Amino acid sequence: MSKSMLIVMQLEELFLARSFLDGPVGLVPTMGYLHAGHISLVEKAGLECKGVIATIFVNPTQFGPTEDLEKYPRNIDGDLKLLEAAGVDVVWMPTAQIMYPPGYQTWVDVENMTKPLEGSMRPGHFRGVTTVVAKLFNATRPDRAYFGQKDAQQAAVIRQMTRDLSYPIEIIVCSTRREADGLAMSSRNSYLAPEQRLAAVVLFRALNAAQSAYKEGERNAERLRQVVRDIINLEPLAKLQYVSCADYETFQELEVVNSKALLSLAVFMGATRLIDNFILE
Ligand code: PAJ
Repeated sequence: MSKSMLIVMQLEELFLARSFLDGPVGLVPTMGYLHAGHISLVEKAGLECKGVIATIFVNPTQFGPTEDLEKYPRNIDGDLKLLEAAGVDVVWMPTAQIMYPPGYQTWVDVENMTKPLEGSMRPGHFRGVTTVVAKLFNATRPDRAYFGQKDAQQAAVIRQMTRDLSYPIEIIVCSTRREADGLAMSSRNSYLAPEQRLAAVVLFRALNAAQSAYKEGERNAERLRQVVRDIINLEPLAKLQYVSCADYETFQELEVVNSKALLSLAVFMGATRLIDNFILE
C-alpha cells in the first residue's frame, strides 16, 4: 500500500517527519515549478533510497539584485501532484523567514571554483546556493543528495562543499533532461515567447556542433569555443553572454583539451538567460 506524502513547513515538523523515514534517505533540493528534469532526480532517488525528501524553496540569497527572484515562476499545487506521483515521502517547503530569520549572518563560501563561469556572471550566486544547500543538508540529514548536470558548476561546487565540510552525504549528479528538440528543460523556459522558444534550440545545436568537431579530433579549445559562437551568432533572437571550454575540476579556460572538459554557455533570449553544457572526454 502506498503511504501518503507529508508536506511540512516548520523545522520541527520536518524533524518529526524525518524521524519516521527509514534509510538510506535521498534529498532532492529544488526551487519548484517542477518539470521532467526535476522529476528524473526524484525518480533516481526513489530507486536508490528508502526515503525521499524533496524541498521547494525559491532561495532569495542566490539571486542578484537585477535577477528574476520576484517573477520566478511558481506552481505549488502542480509541483505537489508531480512529487506525490513520483513517490516522494516528505516535501519541505520552508519560508524565507524560516531559512533566514531576522539577524541571519552565517554563510558558506566555496572559494576558487566559484569565481569563473556562472560565478563571474552572477556575483554572490554560489554563496547563496552553498549556504542554502548546507542548511538543507543540516535540516534533512540525507545519505544521498541529487543534483542535475544542467547546472554543472553548481553540482561540482556542492560536491566540493560536501567534502570540505565533511558531510557524510553522497552527491549524485543526473544527466540533463531535454525537450524533444534538444532544449534543456528549465523552469525559466516558461518565460520564452513562442518564437524565442523555437530559437532557443540554438544552444543545443551549437554544443552539438562543437562536440562533433571534438569527436573529429579538434583539441584546440579556442576553435571549439568559436564553433559555438558562430552558431549562436547566426540566430538573431539569441545574444551570447559567454562560451567556455574549461577544465572540469578547476573551471579554468583551456588552451588544449587533453582531459575531461566542460563546454558551457549562457545565452540571453530577450531578458531570459539560458544555460547549457556538454562534457567533453
Ligand atoms: P532548480 O533550478 O529548481 O533545480 C533543482 C535541481 O534540478 C538542480 O539540481 C538542477 O540542476 C536540476 N535540474 C534542472 N533542470 C534539469 C534538467 N533539465 N535535467 C536534469 N536536472 C535538472 O538548482 C536549483 O534549483 C537551486 O540552485 C538549488 C540547488 C535548489 C538551491 O537553491
